[in-house]
Amino acid sequence: AGCSGGDGAGAGAGGDAITVGFSQVGAESEWRTANTRSVKEALAPPEFNLKFSDAQQKQENQIKALRSFIAQGVDVIAFSPVVETGWDTVLREAKAAGIPVVLTDRAVNVADDSLYATLIGSDFVEEGRRAARWLVEDSEGQDGPIRIVELQGTVGSAPANDRMKGFKEVIDADARFQIVRSQSGDFTRARGKEVMEAFLKAEGRNIDVLFAHNDDMAIGAIQAIEEAGLKPGTDIRIVSIDGVRGAFEAMKAGKLNATVECNPLLGEQLAQLIRDVHAGREVPKRVQVEEGVFTQDQAEAELPNRKY
Ligand code: AHR
Repeated sequence: AGCSGGDGAGAGAGGDAITVGFSQVGAESEWRTANTRSVKEALAPPEFNLKFSDAQQKQENQIKALRSFIAQGVDVIAFSPVVETGWDTVLREAKAAGIPVVLTDRAVNVADDSLYATLIGSDFVEEGRRAARWLVEDSEGQDGPIRIVELQGTVGSAPANDRMKGFKEVIDADARFQIVRSQSGDFTRARGKEVMEAFLKAEGRNIDVLFAHNDDMAIGAIQAIEEAGLKPGTDIRIVSIDGVRGAFEAMKAGKLNATVECNPLLGEQLAQLIRDVHAGREVPKRVQVEEGVFTQDQAEAELPNRKY
């Protein structure tokens, strides 16, 4: 979990670059890799002096990184919080030091909203609803029970909490749907595969649908399903979230049924918010990213357009 960048590159002779301390969640998924690339491209010299730190999916690493940014007196802190809770103290320290905080991608649960300036990210609850709406539509005319297994994201993270909530909200209105197993795969392919293996062992052939909180876990699970002698996308229908290239390839191959888009390319919008916050301009408390849903029949045509 090291810091990189921050070599003092200023915006020309005046050295008036905006120094930004950015704490990233980790490198757990294709989504995250694309997000990091986008942030680094947008927060580039000479306008920005970026101090980038990778938390390797651990909150304690993020708290350390934030404290180090405060000690260095950066102009703005931006971070994508690995989990929702436990931020009050360190955010109060940033506020006391007069350093504005911009949340990217994931939300925090704090008693006092003034501890951060703004949040740029996706509507994860709506993403969960969209996944469920796709499933309801795809299950038209089908009898119940429709047995679902759920691969959740990182425990306590905003996308895991919210996607689960949105998904349940929609399927709970239809008695055919039952979530029979639910466990975290930590947003990684490796864990997605392992947990799917455990689901298959426990449920045998009685799984109709997999809902994975991200594409990487779905891709790991696809491998587990194939190794169990079943056909992903047919024997078990699969819907996941992100819309990464790997998901489009899996849809093209008929192994994934649908992906709900979650756009990681926030860099430019983040840069603008940082400029505004640094200049003391008013910013909206929440900035939304626009996204859609893609199905197998669209995969081949859409694949060349995917930027992540
Ligand atoms: O916070 C966004 C989520 O984090 C993405 O859906 C997932 O792939 C990533 O790891």
